[in-house]
Amino acid sequence: MTVSQTIAFLSAIVAFANAVPSAVYHDSQSPFQEHIRVPVELGVMSRCPDALLCESVFDQVVKQVGPQKVDLSLIYVATLNSTDTEFGITCMHGPGECAGNVQQLCVAKYASPSAWWKFVQCQNSHGRYQVGIPDLTLQCARAANIDWEGSGVASCIGPDVSGKAEEGKELLRQSALLGKSLGIEKSCTVLINRKKVCVHDGTWQECDGGHDVEDFVQRINSEYESLNAGRN
Ligand SMILES: *[C@@H]1O[C@H](CO)[C@@H](O)[C@H](O)[C@H]1NC(C)=O
Repeated sequence: MTVSQTIAFLSAIVAFANAVPSAVYHDSQSPFQEHIRVPVELGVMSRCPDALLCESVFDQVVKQVGPQKVDLSLIYVATLNSTDTEFGITCMHGPGECAGNVQQLCVAKYASPSAWWKFVQCQNSHGRYQVGIPDLTLQCARAANIDWEGSGVASCIGPDVSGKAEEGKELLRQSALLGKSLGIEKSCTVLINRKKVCVHDGTWQECDGGHDVEDFVQRINSEYESLNAGRN
């Protein structure tokens, strides 16, 4: 649904709910309450092998859990650096990685969640050294059906697809600061419902609840149950 269709749909529900006796709806079993999605955040660097691995694992995890239960996002591990003239940020795998990070952040901001995820998976499928390369970025945007100019993605990333437009660089700055505030230091760090549950740094580490797809699925399902306890 578009935003205006969604608003029309919700207005229709409100009108309907108001038209029937309120006693029917006064308890917590109201069918109209929004369910809360489980935040799943992956601390990554777009050219890091651990990130590509994590993103492929979570592609399977989200498919099993169901995308309607999860609010998936990527947070970028990078260091603010005022002496860097290109991005103002240092990315461990070089400026190409900063470009890849910015591209993914801009697509996350302006495209749908499913298009964004398809875009990221497309970049990864060509190997980590291709992430951030303009030709592949445009190719992946087409594959994910992203309206390059009309959506706002192009001006966010920069007309040359370099990731050096002000808006994109600011998104990367904010993401790096968010990662620091959440205590994310390594790519890949897995946060489920804001709790660090696992790290992949060469190998899986600090994974008390396991690190198989099934383990992450179970963890998300149980967080979903407790987040929505008392809701229908
Ligand atoms: C900051 O950026 C400059 C220029 O890119 C680079 O030479 C330097 O190593 C960076 N410093 C850190 C701490 O990453």
